[in-house]
This record gives sequence, C-alpha cells and structure tokens, in this order.
Amino acid sequence: MASLGESRPDFRSKTVATLCSKGGVGKSTLSAQLLDNAARLGLRVAGVDLDPNGTLSRLTGTVAPVGEPSVREVLEGSATPQSVARKPIAWQPEAAADRSWLQGGPLLPGGEVHMVPAPDRGLDAVTSRSGTDVENALLEAITMSGFGEHYDMIVVDPPASTSSTLYLALNASQHLVLPLQTESAALSGLILTLEAAIKFSSNTGRPVNGIGVVATMLDRTTEHTETLEAARAWMSDRFAGQMTVLNPQIPRRTIIADSAARMIPVSRQVTGSGRYGDVAARYAAVTLSVVASVVPEKIGPIFDALEALNMPDELAEIVYAGFDTTADADADAS
Ligand SMILES: Nc1ncnc2c1ncn2[C@@H]1O[C@H](COP(=O)(O)OP(=O)(O)OP(=O)(O)O)[C@@H](O)[C@H]1O
Ligand SMILES: [Mg+2]
Repeated sequence: MASLGESRPDFRSKTVATLCSKGGVGKSTLSAQLLDNAARLGLRVAGVDLDPNGTLSRLTGTVAPVGEPSVREVLEGSATPQSVARKPIAWQPEAAADRSWLQGGPLLPGGEVHMVPAPDRGLDAVTSRSGTDVENALLEAITMSGFGEHYDMIVVDPPASTSSTLYLALNASQHLVLPLQTESAALSGLILTLEAAIKFSSNTGRPVNGIGVVATMLDRTTEHTETLEAARAWMSDRFAGQMTVLNPQIPRRTIIADSAARMIPVSRQVTGSGRYGDVAARYAAVTLSVVASVVPEKIGPIFDALEALNMPDELAEIVYAGFDTTADADADAS
C-alpha cells in the first residue's frame, strides 16, 4: 500500500472507496462483495451509495423508494446517515447462520451490513453540484452525526467520475481500492483516478492510502495480460513497489450477474456441494487485504478462525493469496 499523504485521525480512517473514472469496471460489484465478506468476518459495515444509478443499492435491494429519505438528504444536510440507513435482510450474515463460512455463512459472530442507499431518482441533482461544501458533505455527515462510531468499516461506492462525486468520495475515504477491468481504456482510467487522488491529498493535506488495484473480469486474452503487466509496470514506477495489483485477481464469471439478479451476495450462490466457488473465495481474499489495511486490529482473530477451518489446499491458496504465507506457516497478516 502507498501512503499518499500525511495522517490525521477521524472517521475517514475507517472508510474505503472503490474508485475508477471509467464506468462498468466492477466497482459496485466489488463494493457489494466487500460488504458481504467483511460482515461474514464479524465486522459491522456500512455501504454508502453515491451513484445516481444506485447500483450498490439495487444489488443489496435497498434503493430508497420515491418520497423516502436517502443519501440525497444526507448530502443536503437534512438527515443523518443513520436515520436513512437500511438493513438488507438477505445481506446479514445471520441470514446464512446455518452455513459454514465456506458456503457463504459467518466466520465470526457480530457482523452486520447496513446501507445508506441512493434514492430511486434525483441524486445527480445533488452530486453534480461542485464546490467545497458539497464535496465535504459526506465526510461531515459521517463525522458530525457520529455515524462512523457504529461501524468497523464504511464502503463508499461512487459513480465513474473525475468531478464532484470523486471529491465527495475522496474527502470521506482515506483508503482506496481501484478496480481495473483489464483492457487498455480502463488502465488510463486507473491512472487518471490515482493522479487525481494524489493531487487531492497534496491540495487538502488529507491522507490517501492506496490499498491496491483489483483486476476484475479477467479472462485469458492477450489484452488482459498485457494491460495487467502495463498496470504493474506503471505502479512500480510511480509508487516504488508500495502499491500493487492485489492477489488474487477476479475472473469474469456469470455467477456475478446471477447473484446480482437475485440481489444476494456472490458467496450465497454457493450450493450444498460444499465446494466454495472460486470467485467467492477471490472476493473473500481481496476483502482480507482491505480489512488488514483499514481495520488491522481485527485481522488476527480472523486469521485464527480461518486457520481453524482447515481449508483444502487449493482454496487456502486463493484465500491467502494476498498475504505472504511462505515465510510464516501461520499465515499472519504481514
Ligand atoms: N467478475 C465479473 N464477471 C462478470 N461480470 C461482472 C464481474 N464484475 C462485474 N460484472 C458485471 O459487469 C457490470 C458492471 O459492473 P459494476 O456495476 O460492478 O461496475 P461499476 O464499475 O460499478 O459500473 P458503474 O461505472 O456503472 O458504476 C455488471 O453487469 C456486473 O454484473
Ligand atoms: Mg458502480
């Protein structure tokens, strides 16, 4: 991870945004799977939907119906995030309490998913305004209302943008994960986004921590491989090896669209055979890297509980792929 600025303690330090200026790269899907996986690891998590299309709200079945308050009122300052937050039943770990973690159930108790949803329509009227007040509105709402106190981690899902919503997200989020759909147009989106984040940090003095790039929708075409290599080369040059493409990568799979259509987490798509879907394991692994960065104090007990599962080797290889386990057989966060 790369420290792109200096540190100052507030709820920003609990908040992670999935960012890319290019559309359709898998940001909202990643946000949703981060919420599910973190909650199943025992964390209290909240998602904040900043996208006028409301994708994360749709994925979790929490879109605020016409006439009901949403993130729009939060950004306007007329409602607190906790007053508009929804608790999507299907996304609570307790809804899968009868399943093992390997089948989409909880690993540790106490996890919860709440959503600060987008409205059915009209969010763009607020998010498209520019100016310091608007761009600080989310951080202010999270901080002033004490909303941040209730959660271990907050996941902010902005739309593809290089304008006001990007700054809404950056002001509220110290940590970034950057989905990279591995095609060349998306690489320029990644570079644009990271350069904007660095500039933001130096202009505002607010620290920005790049957790890493998540390669999404990977298949075996040459373009994917070449783009991934180009991304690695650019980051190694720009961040001196401190920020990387996270392991493992996310392949392109129809299970993603299936679970989106059913408004359930990908991990719940796993059927009774006991074989954890490899895509689900990959999102779980990426979540471990995010949790290790955002809430490092939680990672020890999580690794202990994972160890106790005695996962099959091929699954353990995926789940621990983001961590150097060769030097330490106990797979401690390092
Ligand atoms: N690993 C994957 N395999 C297959 N399909 C995927 C994968 N990840 C995401 N998708 C699909 O790609 C589409 C775009 O994903 P998503 O909405 O997460 O992207 P986004 O970056 O948030 O888009 P936007 O710019 O609209 O916010 C969705 O239909 C989603 O179901
Ligand atoms: Mg999205």
